[in-house]
Amino acid sequence: MSSTHSSSGSSAETVPVSLTVNETHHALALDPRTTLLDLLREHLDLTGTKKGCDQGQCGACTVLIDGRRINSCLTLAVMCDGAQITTIEGIAVSGALHPLQQAFIDHDAFQCGYCTPGQICSAAGLIAEGKAKTTEDIRELMSGNICRCGAYGNIVAAIQQTMGQS
Ligand code: FES
Ligand code: FES
Repeated sequence: MSSTHSSSGSSAETVPVSLTVNETHHALALDPRTTLLDLLREHLDLTGTKKGCDQGQCGACTVLIDGRRINSCLTLAVMCDGAQITTIEGIAVSGALHPLQQAFIDHDAFQCGYCTPGQICSAAGLIAEGKAKTTEDIRELMSGNICRCGAYGNIVAAIQQTMGQS
């Protein structure tokens, strides 16, 4: 299924971008300065991915590109041509919560929840990387995801629960 183009004309100021988000294909014409974060939130109405600092400092905007976690605020949408993007809206599998989503609930790993989509996408990337072996590893490798509510202990516990299951 494809979305409609964001621009009907062939403006010289837009460039074609074709990418898949949460298993839905989109072909768009975008201002080349559009970030992936703004593409998701403003063009595709996928507002689960949050804008915190918009400068690569907080991790609220973390999504998965071809399975790797990135800050979508620092990524131009045109760099994602042909990529597979997964956001928090697409991380559940076949209607069931992703194990990380369930673990965050089990461990009360959020308060306001603003950082949570980024935390969960980042944790999914961390688990796929397979580098984290200890609690300290998890803390270090999740250090790009800030939680202003200070739920770090619960977040680490949720990730550990998920790693134990996987
Ligand atoms: Fe992207 Fe803060 S909004 S890192
Ligand atoms: Fe509020 Fe993390 S739960 S910022």
